[in-house]
Amino acid sequence: MNKPSKVTDLDWILLTEKYKDKKLEKVVKLIEKDYPIQYLIGNVDFYGYEIFVKKGVLIPRFETEGLLEETIKLLKDENMDDISVLDIGTGTGCIPVVLKKELPNLEITSIDVNGKAIKLAKLNASNYNATINFIKKNIFHYKPINKYSLIISNPPYVSKDEPVGPEIKYEPKNAIFADHEGLKYYEYIIKNAKKWTTDKNILAFEIGCGQGKYLKQYAKAYYPKSKVIIKKDLSQRDRYLFIINK
Ligand SMILES: C[S@@+](CC[C@H](N)C(=O)[O-])C[C@H]1O[C@@H](n2cnc3c(N)ncnc32)[C@H](O)[C@@H]1O
Repeated sequence: MNKPSKVTDLDWILLTEKYKDKKLEKVVKLIEKDYPIQYLIGNVDFYGYEIFVKKGVLIPRFETEGLLEETIKLLKDENMDDISVLDIGTGTGCIPVVLKKELPNLEITSIDVNGKAIKLAKLNASNYNATINFIKKNIFHYKPINKYSLIISNPPYVSKDEPVGPEIKYEPKNAIFADHEGLKYYEYIIKNAKKWTTDKNILAFEIGCGQGKYLKQYAKAYYPKSKVIIKKDLSQRDRYLFIINK
């Protein structure tokens, strides 16, 4: 069986180790129909950690590593490495697993509306012996009991009318698309975050590349005295929003 052109040499080795004969033929057919290779391999490398992935849960993206890099740096700079964290829309649990491994004194609660995601996130956390409180909850109905000093989220942010590539057709739609031109989750979280946070806190988001200007203004309206920063990804596109409340 020949390697399909869109499969890298390394992924082909992993696939041919895992699948043989008829099963490999089936796998190649799926790849030709844009089925994600990561689901077939079963894991991805994320921030140097092996994260299990499964159909029904969004595959972690490279850009999200940038959110973690910036957030970890900020927490260290602000001496906030032993705080309570709320992670909204955890998916595979890639964000809390990396945070907990890099800063072990954090106390992390992660929520997701998708039960499959919570199950997989628990598996990823236990694979790294990371103690994280996972809760199946819809953020729009969630009433946190505790106060958090970091809220971190990579929520669904693609506008429902935005054209998207074939690679996402097998991923859960409610992990990707959001109302209000993709802004619904940011608006809701920013509007409500004061009730959920300690006096000194950071809100950290991954954002869509065209959303920075609007979200900076929106954040400033709710937090006029705070530092609101938009950071770029490696391709120089607006990608991360930080609201720093001291
Ligand atoms: C863009 S994915 C991010 C997943 C993961 N944090 C990552 O960075 O790879 C957004 C996640 O938000 C979850 N989600 C969507 N709507 C939600 C809601 N109303 N409440 C809680 N989680 C939600 C989805 O199930 C999905 O796992």
